[in-house]
Amino acid sequence: MKLSILGPPGAGKGTQAKKIAKQYGLVHLSTGDLLRAAIRDQTPLGQQAEPFVVSGRLVPDEIMVGVLEEFLRKQMDGAGFVLDGFPRTLPQARALDETGRRLGQELDRVVQLAVADQVSVERIAGRRICPQCGREYHVRFRPPKVAGVCDRDGAELIRRKDDNEAAVRERLAAYHRQDDPLLDYYRKQGLLSEVDAEGDVETVFQRIRTALNGIEAAPRKRGRIATKE
Ligand code: AP5
Repeated sequence: MKLSILGPPGAGKGTQAKKIAKQYGLVHLSTGDLLRAAIRDQTPLGQQAEPFVVSGRLVPDEIMVGVLEEFLRKQMDGAGFVLDGFPRTLPQARALDETGRRLGQELDRVVQLAVADQVSVERIAGRRICPQCGREYHVRFRPPKVAGVCDRDGAELIRRKDDNEAAVRERLAAYHRQDDPLLDYYRKQGLLSEVDAEGDVETVFQRIRTALNGIEAAPRKRGRIATKE
């Protein structure tokens, strides 16, 4: 199974992609996590991406397409995957199609998590991260046992650098500049499942599972690897 999860910032892409990966035995690629790790380690990719990520702007397509191709090449053993945060633009979607075709790694389904902007903002405002183990919390919806402290390792929880008001506004604007053409692109290919992502985490996950029902039983047979699943 090869999936992409789309949606505005705070829609729950990361939360749901982790659950999907566990449920279906897929590799999870979060381009946001990958960029944040590269920034933390100050790799060449991290240095290029940092000013974009911190201010909430999209990293240029040519950089992200290279990141994606490297990931797909590593998936050539046939393991399925769930992309979280890719593609974000039409050029990225076209590059994913083209590279996917070339490598036998075409998408079976694209899941769009739909939430209102005010829900995105509320979820992002309450998000807290453990700087040591990376575990994510939400002050209201997924609180740690002791406020401000990671349940696993006791580290003090922090906010993401791009979770400040100005960057969130820019991330939402960047999303809305791209979402219509991107969704149309996948709708026309018959790949798009639009899922209501308001409600608690388990309710949304069950909706996604329902949307994926068909492809669990009969994956889209386009690539060499897809026909094996
Ligand atoms: P990325 O890390 O992908 O950020 P984003 O798209 O802004 O999404 P978020 O991580 O904020 O939210 P999410 O939808 O994953 O929600 P989450 O599950 O965390 O990208 C960061 C940056 O990297 C971009 O701005 C850009 O600069 C760059 N970038 C990345 N990919 C790129 C690309 N392809 N091209 C160009 N640039 C790229 O949930 C949020 C919170 O809500 C959590 O606290 C969670 O616990 C809580 N929550 C989740 N679901 C629920 C629920 N159902 N009910 C209640 N609370 C919930």
